Amino acid sequence: MSVTEQVEFTEEELLADAPVAEPLLAGGVRCHGGFDDEGRYVSPRTKHRVPAIEAWGKRHTELFGKPLIDVPIDTWGEHFPNVEQARFLVRSGVPEPLIATLTRIGTVEGLGANIRLLKPSGLQRHFVEDIRGTAIDHLGRGLFEAHGRDEAGWEAEAGHKDMWFAARDIAFGTESPHIDIEAMLARMGFGPRSGAGAFAERLLPADIEHELEVMASLMIRVLFIEISAFHTFRWAEAWLSDTELVAGEGEAARLVSYIRADETPHVGYLATALTEMRDRTWIGEGGKRYEGADMIDRLWHHHLALSLGDNREQTRRAVLGEVEHWCRKRPNGDDILAEFHALGSEAA
Ligand SMILES: [Fe+2]
Ligand SMILES: [Fe+2]
Repeated sequence: MSVTEQVEFTEEELLADAPVAEPLLAGGVRCHGGFDDEGRYVSPRTKHRVPAIEAWGKRHTELFGKPLIDVPIDTWGEHFPNVEQARFLVRSGVPEPLIATLTRIGTVEGLGANIRLLKPSGLQRHFVEDIRGTAIDHLGRGLFEAHGRDEAGWEAEAGHKDMWFAARDIAFGTESPHIDIEAMLARMGFGPRSGAGAFAERLLPADIEHELEVMASLMIRVLFIEISAFHTFRWAEAWLSDTELVAGEGEAARLVSYIRADETPHVGYLATALTEMRDRTWIGEGGKRYEGADMIDRLWHHHLALSLGDNREQTRRAVLGEVEHWCRKRPNGDDILAEFHALGSEAA
């Protein structure tokens, strides 16, 4: 590492926007980010955050000689429904499950902002090795906050949640009065009781501070969601860009591509901080030491199994439920459903 490379940043710096020539507007809504002089999209809060993530990663591999965690997108299968099934639903006059899916994605993005509630400080007490100049040390000083603002918006600027809703409304128009959004979200598992007890089970030794486990678990779960979401972006961009299929002259797909660009620093800082934690020695509350690799592995395997198994199945069932719900409202619903399944990539 060159000694001049900056690895200490203030919260203000990590939240600072790079200059833009023009703001991003989505369906008349002012969003975060914008465009530079050449019309290229610039993600929000990346002036220092992006070079910081790169510098921390480089510094880590130089100090520890270990590569950064890399999770291939192929770990997860493609989106359900697939692109052909999505096109088929719109062409068959059953766009509601897709409207529901875009609403669901926006809602999940908004919930992702909860990561900013962690606000960790004094994390050095958990690790033997110095954490100065690391992503770990900046999690509670700008990184979680920037992430939360990107997902849910901040002050006058809309974030991913509203960008997905805007993409939906651009593609399908806002006149969908027959869709009760609240009822749809409830059918898809978003309600007052959803998500309760997610952290009830301890996976790490009892003397590892509970808050540290909660934080590392959430970071791993969010990392998996962020990476698998690239399938969702690819999927949504494929059919939202079809100007013969949906309205908006490709605007909805462009919005999704901006959201996709914004996610790269999320994956970057989470993977970097988790790598730094993996390669350090952890300290239990009584002073007992643990290999970070062992701690991260335990959480990693548990959450990866959920992500590839139960969680995926739950989402699939929720989406399929919407498809069936709306197809049944059509006189030829059974035929539409049969053809929908025939276009599927996986067994029904
Ligand atoms: Fe997002
Ligand atoms: Fe994200």
